Parts: sequence; structure tokens; C-alpha cells
Amino acid sequence: MPEPRKIIIDTDPGQDDAVAILLALGSPELEILGITAVAGNVPLKLTEKNARKICELAGRPDIKVYAGAIRPLVRELVTAEEVHGKTGLNGPELPEPAMKLQEQHAVDYLVETLMREEAGTITLCPLGPLTNIALAMIREPRIAPRIKEIVLMGGGFFEGGNVTPSAEFNIYVDPHAADVVLRSGVPIVMMPLDVTHKALTTTKRIDAFRKLGTKVGIATTQMLEFFERYDEGKYGTDGGPLHDPCVIAYLLKPSLFQGRFCNVTVEIASELTMGMTVVDWWGVSNRPKNATVMRDIDHDGFFELLVERLGRL
Ligand code: BDR
Ligand code: CA
Repeated sequence: MPEPRKIIIDTDPGQDDAVAILLALGSPELEILGITAVAGNVPLKLTEKNARKICELAGRPDIKVYAGAIRPLVRELVTAEEVHGKTGLNGPELPEPAMKLQEQHAVDYLVETLMREEAGTITLCPLGPLTNIALAMIREPRIAPRIKEIVLMGGGFFEGGNVTPSAEFNIYVDPHAADVVLRSGVPIVMMPLDVTHKALTTTKRIDAFRKLGTKVGIATTQMLEFFERYDEGKYGTDGGPLHDPCVIAYLLKPSLFQGRFCNVTVEIASELTMGMTVVDWWGVSNRPKNATVMRDIDHDGFFELLVERLGRL
């Protein structure tokens, strides 16, 4: 087998973040160098703890978890307890983690690791607001050309927004950070709502996790059953969108996704459309192409991959 791909997961768990982390931990093709937590779905104190809980659930207390930014670059923090519950990880009863949080700040960790490891070998996987990544880029501009690729969950175009009519949560929470990242020149793959709204946690799919009969399978079932209830009410669908695991699935099996290389620019001026990702899908502007924007997913293949990989934990 070729050398595993080195990744750093930047995240605000979040049940769907948790499933993304589990997918990565169940996949030998990936080596998680570290997990950096950011404020987003819930405040930082909870997201960093939730990240540790998930590592322990997967039997991986050796994974290093770092805490990063407690708030966005410019705007006030907006959280999403109505979706994820008060803890951010409502559903299963997971024990308080015994593994320690790393002392180093997540932004320092990102800079140090990217400057130390061979250039072009590390992929960043942001699953929350882009605050930590933007701060690292501002702090040490030499890291950008050393990043192999950024595969992120965020944005939405054809599907509109999920937190305002035009903005997706991760980008809306820190649009200024998203702007820094999108202008960084790093190759970017974007998993927007246009994709994730096609990856629904139907009853049948949740049952497949339950049938694993393992600790991870049962906890995943409980997380997803809690997570989908808000979106089922909102969208009237059987199941809710499973956003963040799309990022990790892309690294494992890019053929599950289809998209287009185009320009993406974030709105940071208008309050009405704040955080909107303006995707030049038809190439009608002369703005430079900066991201591969996904639009379609083989959703059955995606869930098959998830069940198979979580089944290994
Ligand atoms: C994104 O927002 C969060 O609620 C989810 O974890 C996901 O990263 C979807 O808009
Ligand atoms: Ca997330």
C-alpha cells in the first residue's frame, strides 16, 4: 500500500464532524497528524472536548488534539445548539475524555507542522469555520505554498444557504477567514450544501450503522438520530444532510463526487448576503479560478464507504 496521506482535521464537533473524524480514523489510507478545534457549532471549550471524546470512542487516545480560536476574526461568534444540542454532540452518552488537550495553540501547531514537514505533503480538512486556518496563514504566509490541498466543507450556491437564505453556516460564522483562505492560492476542493443536501441519513442508512453492533456503530446511530431531527423538520426529508464526512470521503474515493474548477468569492460587505459563496459556475466573470466546487455525489456509494470504514473501528 502507498504511504498514507497526511491530514490535519480542523473541526467544531458537531455530530457530522464526529462521523468525519471516525471515517478518517477507520481509514488506513489516511494519517491524522493532529486535530485542531475551533469555535463554531458550540463554543471552543466544548468542541475541543468533543474531539477528544470521539478519539476515545474510536480507541485512539494517542491522537493529538489542539484548541484554537475562540471566536471569528471580525464578527461575533454564532453557534448552532438548535441543530447539535447543548453539548454539540447530543445523542450518545459519551464519557468525559481522559486524554489530555495539547498545550500548544492550534494555530502555532498548524504553522509549526507545515513548516517542519516536507512541502506539499499535508492536506488540511476544515469542517468548521475557517478561523484557525486563516490565522495560521496570516501569522506565517510561507505556509500557504507548502499546503498540498485544502478540502473543506462549506458554502452553497444552487442550494442557497442553511443559516441565512444565502449563506452556509461554516462560511457565515467567519466570512473574513473564508475570504483569506479562498484568496490564498492553495488548491481548494469545496463540499458545499449542493452536495451535502444529497447525502441524507435515511432510516435505512442509520439502521446500517446500528447493525454494526459495535460501540462506534451504536454511538453513530445515536448521534445521527439526534442530528437529523432538526433538519428533517426544516427540510421535510427522510433524514438530514451528513455534511462533514463528505470531505474525508473525497480523500478516500474522489470518484464519488463531481464538480467543476471555478472562481469562488465570499461576500464580506453586505449584511443581507454576508458569507454567501458566489460561485462563477458558468465562467462569466474574469475572476481567477480558485476552487473545485463539488455539485454531485454518489450517495449510496458514500454511505457504503462510511459503514464499511466505521465497521473497522
Ligand atoms: C456545517 O455546519 C455545521 O453545523 C456542520 O457541522 C457542518 O460543518 C453545515 O452547514
Ligand atoms: Ca462542522
